[in-house]
Amino acid sequence: MSDVRFYYGDELPLEMHKARIVQRLELKPVEDRARAMAGAGYNTFLLNNSDVFLDMLTDSGTNAMSDEQLAAMMRADDAYAGSETFVRLESVLRRIFGKEYFLPAHQGRACESILSQVLVEPGSVVPMNYHFTTSKAHIVLNGGTIEELLIDEGWDVESEHPFKGNMDTGKLEALVQRVGADRIPFVRLEAGTNLIGGQPFSLENLREVGTLCRRHGIMIVLDASLLGDNLYLIKRRESACADWSIEEIMRAVAEECDVIYFSARKLGAARGGGMCLDDADLYLKMRELIPLYEGFLTYGGMSVREMEALAVGLEETLDEDAISQGPEFTAHMVEQLRKRGIPVVVPAGGLGCHVDALRFLDHVPQEEYPAGALATAFFIASGVRGMERGTMSEQREEDGSETLAHMELLRLALPRRVFTVSQVGYVVDRLQWLYENRELIGGLRFVEEPDILRFFFGKLEPMTDWPARLVARFREDFGDTL
Ligand code: F0G
Repeated sequence: MSDVRFYYGDELPLEMHKARIVQRLELKPVEDRARAMAGAGYNTFLLNNSDVFLDMLTDSGTNAMSDEQLAAMMRADDAYAGSETFVRLESVLRRIFGKEYFLPAHQGRACESILSQVLVEPGSVVPMNYHFTTSKAHIVLNGGTIEELLIDEGWDVESEHPFKGNMDTGKLEALVQRVGADRIPFVRLEAGTNLIGGQPFSLENLREVGTLCRRHGIMIVLDASLLGDNLYLIKRRESACADWSIEEIMRAVAEECDVIYFSARKLGAARGGGMCLDDADLYLKMRELIPLYEGFLTYGGMSVREMEALAVGLEETLDEDAISQGPEFTAHMVEQLRKRGIPVVVPAGGLGCHVDALRFLDHVPQEEYPAGALATAFFIASGVRGMERGTMSEQREEDGSETLAHMELLRLALPRRVFTVSQVGYVVDRLQWLYENRELIGGLRFVEEPDILRFFFGKLEPMTDWPARLVARFREDFGDTL
């Protein structure tokens, strides 16, 4: 590896920070973990964190804050209207993205709701590289449909393409010809494409999409929630950008986009969200909805403390030592899993590590939610909480049939600067044990199934008593070890 700041020895990622506040963890015995999993309806979203050893459910709102962020929170200007804190945040966003207007919101999905209410109508078609659960839900709620136009390599978990989040511009042109530009309110591009394994798009691809969209008069809306990881991966993988600063890459990305929205639970390592844009008409239309759903225009549902932390967190996103942490830890974990023959999405993306449940559990039919079953089994085996990203995260068709997901992934998120290399080593070790015992794992079925975003609250049960057999094997192999 060329850059000594990020690696040493056998390519271990090097932390460019030190921990001065720590939180105690507890690893409960395997029997307790199995009981907790049953109590949570075999859905990792419903576990209590007190039963969890390492929480790798998400990086949303769980990234470690810096001393500078915490210090900034103390000087927040607490005013309902016109707070100095808002002005500070607005000026940071203006500088970073170069957009005139900023609308604050309480989190990313609130931006998606407002954008969809204003721009989507029955019959609208929204092309995107790939959907995110909440982004799709809001477009569909407003009568639109989505079209996923990833490049072919993006659909293939084994492809080594460096930019699997790229959009296929040939497919986009064909779609515009087929449905007409007037039915396309915007093209949505997601940085660090979440549901396909945190995969980035390249600046080159974004520019091609930008050229095409400008030719047809279609806006580009960027979901920048995972932009930090994507910027870093552009710098590492796109040779034309190798000598650019992260700030330069950020500006080049922003120039191509008409609206940039983000979850500040991810971008900026704080809480909240917002939308940045230049179009005054669109700004005025969306502005009307902010006081209705979010809060007054100068906080939009965020606390002033969070806004201060966000302003600093966004600046820190431009610091290569800080933004390398997520992707480099992920790359290390992917490499360790790969060496042990455990099927995992490659190349390593942002956000975390994504285990391919279709190959891990090739004996579990997709209708029995292999990724959900793997998340359950892995929690029992390790106390590590991951998230199902597969068919459970889809919504049934109108006739009640399952929408089988393109990918069945167990996501093990790596919140930035939270876990250590040895904790990652533990995760890899337990996953290896589970892989060796994978024939014990069976499927799941719903016993309580909500209609919308069912993965959040749905309750399931195992098809057989396979969790008990897994616990018994664990005891045989590990003796008294937790
Ligand atoms: N867009 C992307 C790409 C996301 O990953 C998320 C959230 C959102 C939008 C919505 O933002 O949570 O602030 O409302 N992703 C979280 C996750 C939930 O765990 O991946 P939000």
